Amino acid sequence: MTAAATGAPAVDWEALREVAREAMSRAYAPYSGYPVGVAALVDDGRVVSGCNVENASYGLGLCAECGLVSQLQNTGGGRLTHFTCVDGDGEILVPCGRCRQLLYEFGGPGLILETPAGLLPLSEMLPQAFGPEHLTK
Ligand code: THU
Repeated sequence: MTAAATGAPAVDWEALREVAREAMSRAYAPYSGYPVGVAALVDDGRVVSGCNVENASYGLGLCAECGLVSQLQNTGGGRLTHFTCVDGDGEILVPCGRCRQLLYEFGGPGLILETPAGLLPLSEMLPQAFGPEHLTK
């Protein structure tokens, strides 16, 4: 069934990508020279975003997704439903493996990711994910 048929509003991916690009423009990436921006929709309609923040102690650098989940939690929590990530050229980028795990915590297997290979559920980007459900069974 299409989004229109269910009455759910269609996701404006271009607008969401623009939020990610704005976040990318605020990245602090003096060591890698590789700015990243991310943005996501929350199930209550909010939009959250983040940029990477590196550190002179290289291993302490924070991926853009760290900022996004921090903003999510600090602005009321909720579930991530749609996510996009862009590189320094504003092109669609896949989130790194660690960040797929971060996203899984707050979006679960049904979170839709915009990837260079199209729209994919997180279950296809992080198969057989370990998650909160393993700790409670
Ligand atoms: N980076 C992110 O912010 N998110 C990703 O999903 C991929 C990688 C950042 C980390 C580092 O600051 C830079 O990109 C180069 O790896």
